Amino acid sequence: MKNKEIIMIAAMSETRVIGNEAGDAMPWSVPEEYQRYVDTVSGHTVIMGYSSFMINGKYLEGVELIVLSRSHEISGVKVCTSLNQAIAEAKHSKIFIAGGGQVYKHALDHADQILLSTIKGAYSGSVYFPELDKAKWILDKEEELANYIFRVYRRVRLKS
Ligand SMILES: NC(=O)c1ccc[n+]([C@@H]2O[C@H](COP(=O)([O-])OP(=O)(O)OC[C@H]3O[C@@H](n4cnc5c(N)ncnc54)[C@H](OP(=O)(O)O)[C@@H]3O)[C@@H](O)[C@H]2O)c1
Repeated sequence: MKNKEIIMIAAMSETRVIGNEAGDAMPWSVPEEYQRYVDTVSGHTVIMGYSSFMINGKYLEGVELIVLSRSHEISGVKVCTSLNQAIAEAKHSKIFIAGGGQVYKHALDHADQILLSTIKGAYSGSVYFPELDKAKWILDKEEELANYIFRVYRRVRLKS
């Protein structure tokens, strides 16, 4: 499994909001940030939770989509009952974890890298991106754009 690269990819507000349990679409519309997501995951595997799939799930050309669910099947979509199973069965070596809140929380222990966009402005919601433990994650890159700040975090690896 470890020849696969696990990358979390998310957009959050300045207060770490990523969405609403109520099942609404994203609280913001920043097309250039969404385009960055599409370009980044193109040609790779995307894993997302059942709720996120029901709200935002879209077929993206050239992307292998795997949905996590312990209780649902989805016609025409690959569903796995655990993150480990999804990672093992992914056909690409680069795997993007694309939410939502439950899945991000669980994936923090598995990920090598986090691509995190912070959308400028105030947004309310009920689902949050988890806090990052500074002892475990190093900020590798920060890019300020008009409507969002893009950051890349890398997992701290202890030298043996
Ligand atoms: N801003 C962003 O970048 C971004 C990205 C994605 C989503 N979102 C937002 O996030 C919100 C949804 O997040 P959420 O936390 O409510 O739900 P979620 O994480 O998308 O999905 C939760 C569901 O996924 C399944 N699941 C979760 N962990 C699993 C595991 N380890 N193994 C097997 N199945 C697992 C379960 O489905 P079953 O109940 O069917 O077993 C669970 O009920 C929405 O508001 C969405 O818009 C935001």
